[in-house]
Amino acid sequence: TGKFTFDPGFTSTASCESALTYIDGDEGVLLHRGYPIGQLAENSSFMEVSYLLLNGELPNKAELENFEYTISRHTMLHEQLRHFYQGFRRDAHPMAIMCGVVGALSAFYHDSTDIADPEHRKISSHRLIAKMPTIAAMAYKYSVGQPFVYPDNKLSYTGNFLRMTFGVPAEEYEVIPAVEKAMDRIFILHADHEQNASTSTVRLAGSSGANPFACIAAGIACLWGPAHGGANEAALNMLKEIGTPDRIQHYIDRAKDKNDPFRLMGFGHRVYKNYDPRATVMQSTVREVFDALKVNDPLFETALRLEEIALNDPYFVEKKLFPNVDFYSGIILSAIGFPTTMFTVLFALARTVGWVAQWNEMISDPGQKIGRPRQLYTGPTQRDYVPVDKR
Ligand code: CMC
Repeated sequence: TGKFTFDPGFTSTASCESALTYIDGDEGVLLHRGYPIGQLAENSSFMEVSYLLLNGELPNKAELENFEYTISRHTMLHEQLRHFYQGFRRDAHPMAIMCGVVGALSAFYHDSTDIADPEHRKISSHRLIAKMPTIAAMAYKYSVGQPFVYPDNKLSYTGNFLRMTFGVPAEEYEVIPAVEKAMDRIFILHADHEQNASTSTVRLAGSSGANPFACIAAGIACLWGPAHGGANEAALNMLKEIGTPDRIQHYIDRAKDKNDPFRLMGFGHRVYKNYDPRATVMQSTVREVFDALKVNDPLFETALRLEEIALNDPYFVEKKLFPNVDFYSGIILSAIGFPTTMFTVLFALARTVGWVAQWNEMISDPGQKIGRPRQLYTGPTQRDYVPVDKR
C-alpha cells in the first residue's frame, strides 16, 4: 500500500530499543550488558547473570547475597497449585503443564497487579524467577509418578532445582558439584537472547498491560516450537535417529534436499551467520559432565562428526549454517538424567530471567505503546451480502 513496510518474519525490523543484550551475528558475538557470554559462562553464576540482566550492573558481594536471599524467599508454590498438576494426564508434555501452571500464577498474586508500580513489577519478577525451578521440577515429578519435593533454601538456586527434580523422600540427595556447575552454566547460556520469538511474544503480550504471569505463559507457548526452544529436544531425537557416524551423510543429503522438509536440528540461526558462541561453551561442557559422571555417550561422537561434515559441506558453508546453542545441550542434559521432553522446560526456566528483564525494560519506557503491527490485505474487495437461498 505504500503506507507500511512489509517484513514477514521481521527479518529487518527492530521492534524496540534495548540495553540488555547485544548480538553481532556475523562475528558470533553475544554480550549481556556488555559482558561476553563466554566470560559469564566461565566465571559467573546464573543468579549473578540474572541480577545483571535485571539491574544493568554486576552485583557486589552484599548485593548478590541479598538477591539470592530474596529469590530464595519465593521458591515455594501456593499449596493450591499442587492440585493443578492432578488435572493433567500423566503423559502430558511438561511444556503443556508449564504453560498452564505459569499462566495460573496470575490468579494467585492480587497484591502486585499494578504494573505501573516498580515495586509490584519487582516482586512479580522475583516470584517468577524463584518459582520456575519448583514448577518445572513438579512437572517432571508428576510425569514419573513420584512425590513433589519441596524446595530446600539451603541449596543454591540450581542445586535446589536438581534436588527437587531428582531427589526422593526415601533417600538423601547429594548435589554433585560438577553437575550443579554445568547446569548453572546451561542456565546462563539460555538466560537472554534479545528479540527472539518468545521474548517478542512476551513483549507483545505485555504491551497491552497484561498480567506478567500470563505474559510469561505466552512466552513459554512460543518457546515450545521446534524452530525455537523445542530444537534441543528435536536435536537429540535426531542424533538418536542417526545413531552411528556412518549414517550421517544420508541425513546431510536429506537436509540439503529442497523436496525433503527435514532440517538439521540444532543447526542454523536467524541472527548468527557464524558459530553460535553459546555452542562453543556447550561443547566443552559436554566433556566436563562426562568426566564428572564417568559416562560416555556415543552420540557425542556422532554430533562432533556431524558438525565436521556439515561445516565442510558447500551447502552449509554458503548458507552460513553453524551449530547453535541447542546442538550439544541435549547430550549434556541427557547425561544428567533429564528425559528429552524436559529439555525445553529447562530452556524456559532460564529464559524467564530474560523475559522478565525485557518486560520490565519495556514497561519502564515512558514512550511504550501497545504493539500493533499492520498487514497487507490480500482478501476480496468490498461486495454485497447475498441471502443464503441465492448462493
Ligand atoms: N538444515 C538445513 N537447511 C537449513 C537449516 C537447517 N537446520 N536451517 C536453515 N536452512 C536453510 C533453509 O532451507 C534456507 O534455504 P534456502 O535459502 O535455499 O531456502 C536457508 O538455510 C535459510 O533458512 P531460513 O529458514 O530462511 O532461515 P530463518 O532465519 O528463517 O530460520 C532457523 C532460522 C533457526 C529457524 C533455521 O535455521 C532452522 O529451522 N534451524 C533448525 C531448528 C533449530 O535448530 N532452531 C534453534 C535455533 S537456536 C535456539 C533458539 O533460538 O530457540
